[in-house]
Amino acid sequence: MSFKIVEEATPRLNRSELAVPGSSPQLFEKAAKSAADVIFLDLEDAVAPDKKEEARRNVIRALNEIDWGNKTVSVRINGLDTHYMYRDVVEVIEQTGERLDLFMIPKVGTAADVYAVDMLVSQVEQAKGRKKRIGFELIIETALGMQNVHEIAGASPRNESLHFGVADYAASTRARTTNIGGVNPDYSVLTDPLEDGRREVHWGDMWHYAIARMVVAARANGLRPIDGPFGDFSDADGYRAAARRAAALGCEGKWAIHPSQIALANEVFSPSEKEVERARRILAAMEEAAREGKGAVSLDGRLIDIASIRQAQALVAKADQITAAGG
Ligand code: GLV
Ligand code: MG
Repeated sequence: MSFKIVEEATPRLNRSELAVPGSSPQLFEKAAKSAADVIFLDLEDAVAPDKKEEARRNVIRALNEIDWGNKTVSVRINGLDTHYMYRDVVEVIEQTGERLDLFMIPKVGTAADVYAVDMLVSQVEQAKGRKKRIGFELIIETALGMQNVHEIAGASPRNESLHFGVADYAASTRARTTNIGGVNPDYSVLTDPLEDGRREVHWGDMWHYAIARMVVAARANGLRPIDGPFGDFSDADGYRAAARRAAALGCEGKWAIHPSQIALANEVFSPSEKEVERARRILAAMEEAAREGKGAVSLDGRLIDIASIRQAQALVAKADQITAAGG
């Protein structure tokens, strides 16, 4: 282990993160009763410019009046390049109590962007006498943000998670996409002719580099990496496949841009009973190995060692967190 200890951000369940436009208050109650772990009330791109003020008022009312239960509640503020952002921060903190958990900052490009919002939030929190510190979720969704993702991840003690905003990222990098967060048949390998002369097309994941890079930056700074939107909400299998790919790389959750995606995210990002049972058996086997003075043993015909303990502990801790939150 390095001498530098990576401190983990405030632990929160973040399997599913439901996006709710601030301009659609009729959706708020339903969102509060949904099975999403995190709700973000959006003041940014789901809200038209002439609805920005009204959406902010709706969100303030919702933070004061709606019972959000044990959910983590976030507000996506507007970008630093707009004239809405400072009022989003000031009015939301000044006019609500302690219910807000997180601000989501879109299109973060540099560590200084995070620093600037931190400064503003700190002043308003202090002036208001707020006791609970508001955390930050940062969307990495521009070429600049992806270039600077490592500095961004370490830019504030408020940082809790990094999110891959695939739609804006595609726009920023001029990537050719067919559907938000989906795959593109152009991103494929054509095999050389097989023995019978046939050639096969193997589709690839065009988002692999971006997500993997974000995961490293997040984990190296104790933050949660979260995968962003999948636009085709009629394609449950496509969503599941994208979520599984993100989970395989280390992401802890994925956005739901439609309520039907919440259950899919919760399913993919919860360890299965079989996985938990195997993790517990690994821990038991390694305890026995330690008693016998061994560092590695075999379980079900496969090698396990001390690194397996850390993997198994993380899995069991996740399962316990889910149980504690009510499943
Ligand atoms: C999210 O904000 C995205 O652009 O994908
Ligand atoms: Mg975006």
